[in-house]
Amino acid sequence: MLFTVALSLLSLVTSVVALPKSTNPQPLGRAQDDSPALIYAFSVCSNKATIELPGHYTVGRVLNTTLTDVDINLTGTIQYTADMAYWSPASIFLTYQNATTFWLLSGTGITLSGGGTIDANGQIWWEQFARSGNAGVAGGSSRTFSRPVPLTVGFAKDVLVKDIAIVNSPFWLPTIKTANSDGWDIYRSDHVTIKNSWINNQDDCVSFKPNSTFVDVQNLWCNGSHGISVGSLGQYAGETDIVANVFVKNITMLNAQQGARIKVFGGSNDTQFISGGGDGYVKNITFSDFYIENTDTPILIDQCYMTTAAQCKAYPATLRISDVHYINIKGTSSGKLTNGTVVSIKCSQNCTGITAVGTDLRPPNGTATYLCSHITPETGLDFPCTEV
Ligand SMILES: *[C@@H]1O[C@H](CO)[C@@H](O)[C@H](O)[C@H]1NC(C)=O
Ligand SMILES: *[C@@H]1O[C@H](CO)[C@@H](O)[C@H](O)[C@H]1NC(C)=O
Ligand SMILES: *[C@@H]1O[C@H](CO)[C@@H](O)[C@H](O)[C@H]1NC(C)=O
Ligand SMILES: *[C@@H]1O[C@H](CO)[C@@H](O)[C@H](O)[C@H]1NC(C)=O
Ligand SMILES: *[C@@H]1O[C@H](CO)[C@@H](O)[C@H](O)[C@H]1NC(C)=O
Ligand SMILES: *[C@@H]1O[C@H](CO)[C@@H](O)[C@H](O)[C@H]1NC(C)=O
Ligand SMILES: *[C@@H]1O[C@H](CO)[C@@H](O)[C@H](O)[C@H]1NC(C)=O
Ligand SMILES: *[C@@H]1O[C@H](CO)[C@@H](O)[C@H](O)[C@H]1NC(C)=O
Ligand SMILES: *[C@@H]1O[C@H](CO)[C@@H](O)[C@H](O)[C@H]1NC(C)=O
Ligand SMILES: *[C@@H]1O[C@H](CO)[C@@H](O)[C@H](O)[C@H]1NC(C)=O
Ligand SMILES: *[C@@H]1O[C@H](CO)[C@@H](O)[C@H](O)[C@H]1NC(C)=O
Repeated sequence: MLFTVALSLLSLVTSVVALPKSTNPQPLGRAQDDSPALIYAFSVCSNKATIELPGHYTVGRVLNTTLTDVDINLTGTIQYTADMAYWSPASIFLTYQNATTFWLLSGTGITLSGGGTIDANGQIWWEQFARSGNAGVAGGSSRTFSRPVPLTVGFAKDVLVKDIAIVNSPFWLPTIKTANSDGWDIYRSDHVTIKNSWINNQDDCVSFKPNSTFVDVQNLWCNGSHGISVGSLGQYAGETDIVANVFVKNITMLNAQQGARIKVFGGSNDTQFISGGGDGYVKNITFSDFYIENTDTPILIDQCYMTTAAQCKAYPATLRISDVHYINIKGTSSGKLTNGTVVSIKCSQNCTGITAVGTDLRPPNGTATYLCSHITPETGLDFPCTEV
């Protein structure tokens, strides 16, 4: 097997010498590890190059690629191995909530496209998760059981990811119940555009994690998710989380827990707390043109996220929420919440500049209820609040 790898590297060297600006690594087949060939291709073609990936590549080692002006044409499939013992400690650490990743794509001027697939072999991770119940803190991962993210674009500028399917994500994307299978997550990034995605999952469809600014999300179809979520934020005492200048438009949200969602932990008197007490703000967020079906809470702000009522009352969130605009949020709730609740905006400290126009949300039967607390003023809302 070592011999085969060496041979394939050799043939790659030959083709690379002949044609330095383009490479097309050959998969070994029969589930043998293609990562040495891929890592080699990414290293020799890391600058002003095209990398053609038409085959089925089995990847058993982390991909940590730093590229400049490179087009990756993934028409085939990259499939990570089901080797939990290797990936848990070896996957690349991303800091936030102990998340890790199989592939960290860094650099400048990168296009990843081609209609191909990244298959993260999630089944084994879901099964292990179901057995152990080990989720880390607040949905976080852990270093012993990492559930890596299939693709992370980080330490990067001018990156376009287009026409790529990502399937079977262990984390933040089934025979067994999946968990934390987010669609898109944004963290410590600005000027990000997400357009025309189709997402079937069981956690956030799009999540704006700490320090996401100037994000434009349009034309998304989400089925079974936890909605388009700002947060969660304020989890770590002593940290400052900012989400601002976010524009979300034309979203179809089916069979979800929430539609347009903001989740912020409550406050804390403990400076070492990792389940609330963080500072910062959420500001200038627009949710526009949502078409919603069978969703528990179409509009939700929870500023006591994962915090007990007593704790939140004693220590309201210090992370402030302002200038949040709901425009044309229409459709039906699932009816799961009591009293026909379709909106739940529960701020633990005053939220300001919250507006809603064109709201048309109905429970499957009966009349709609809109729960509010600490919204000042409520005059910008086009629905009648029930104070809680
Ligand atoms: C990507 O690869 C496919 C299949 O080899 C090819 O048809 C297509 O032209 C390539 N696209 C680009 C942008 O190079
Ligand atoms: C990934 O590559 C970058 C750039 O080469 C390097 O600085 C970093 O330490 C690598 N990270 C890991 C986890 O290997
Ligand atoms: C991250 O992992 C460490 C070590 O396993 C653990 O102590 C810590 O609580 C974890 N943090 C989060 C947010 O999951
Ligand atoms: C809205 O998004 C859907 C995809 O969910 C797309 O088909 C449709 O063209 C978009 N509408 C507009 C006006 O862009
Ligand atoms: C939506 O998700 C449900 C539950 O996973 C699934 O049964 C259904 O087929 C999905 N709908 C579409 C159109 O994919
Ligand atoms: C977010 O940005 C603020 C202001 O620049 C900074 O103080 C804070 O450390 C950042 N937080 C994270 C989680 O990166
Ligand atoms: C609010 O956010 C939008 C969308 O990102 C941006 O275009 C606009 O400039 C922001 N407004 C302010 C006052 O920053
Ligand atoms: C935080 O407040 C609670 C009561 O609300 C108290 O029991 C606890 O000792 C306080 N912790 C710190 C670190 O001050
Ligand atoms: C439902 O509405 C009734 C009448 O307004 C109220 O008494 C009751 O507390 C509400 N239930 C919940 C769970 O909000
Ligand atoms: C919250 O708003 C109410 C009503 O406008 C006001 O009476 C109260 O002082 C505000 N609280 C804070 C902490 O700003
Ligand atoms: C309204 O719908 C809910 C959920 O489907 C159901 O439990 C309830 O009985 C219905 N109420 C009426 C009055 O039909």
